[in-house]
Amino acid sequence: MSIGDTVYLNGVFTQRKDALISPLDRGFLFSHAAYEVTAVYGGKLIDFEGHVSRLGNTLEAISIPNPHDAAAWEDIHSQLIARNGLSEGLIYLEVSAGAYDSRDFAGPETFTPTIFLYADHRPLISEKAEQGIRAIFLNDIRWRRRDIKTTQLLSQALAYRAAREAGAETAFMVEDGHVTEAASANTWIVTEEGRIITRNLSSDILPGITRAHVIARLRNQGLDIEERAFTPDEAYAAKEVFTTSAGAMIAPVIQLEDRPVGTGKPGPVTRQVQRLYYEAIGADVEKVAAWALA
Ligand code: PDD
Repeated sequence: MSIGDTVYLNGVFTQRKDALISPLDRGFLFSHAAYEVTAVYGGKLIDFEGHVSRLGNTLEAISIPNPHDAAAWEDIHSQLIARNGLSEGLIYLEVSAGAYDSRDFAGPETFTPTIFLYADHRPLISEKAEQGIRAIFLNDIRWRRRDIKTTQLLSQALAYRAAREAGAETAFMVEDGHVTEAASANTWIVTEEGRIITRNLSSDILPGITRAHVIARLRNQGLDIEERAFTPDEAYAAKEVFTTSAGAMIAPVIQLEDRPVGTGKPGPVTRQVQRLYYEAIGADVEKVAAWALA
């Protein structure tokens, strides 16, 4: 895992150490910024259309003019991949509302954004995808616009710290007795009867691009997906639990709090989802994820 040396800042590819922004940036002062994280596998962007489209929605919702059309965004991403020799990992993108002369909450009528991207080398078809992760439950204390991807991530940062302290890798967040999503992923359960459930879209959760891809692919296989909220008790009783995100793709959850999920090992539905997804992104599954074929 390492961040590439060449980054993109405001129209220029530059060395990471030379990429400097103002401390008066509204991203820093107010978390007034949109971000996206797109997976790269075999040097190719995964589900890019969805990420660019969601970026447009986020920017619009927080009054930042979108500085580029989809083709220009793709070109910047592709150049960053090439310049960093990124084969497997992520491209992080952030567009903040920019820096001004005063700490004025409302800010100018029209924002001039700060645009920053970097390449992150890391395995996505990883040991965690093979072995699974553990999760705790936490109260969801986030703001009410979770359907847009902003850098207001303090509660998620604290959720990850609480998870680590408890010996887990992530947290499932709970509101009004139902799981919203994980700290940085969407959550899924497979019931005793084999029903596959993930929370329906609303402003309560991020409309995950990986979630949408997996739903489409499973429906294409003739499988039924129920989009509805589920409770922590339903998750405890589930045969399988997994998460979806660009950062970890499909991650089996093998333990919730101190209780094993199902057999305590990644289950067959999760393996099937992994297989389908890895094939879709062009992975040689036999070579890089033979465990998903078992
Ligand atoms: N997070 N829910 C939340 C709260 C997230 O932060 C993410 C992604 C997802 C999954 O969305 P997608 O499938 O589009 O990645 C759901 C990214 C990876 C991050 O913050 O690093």
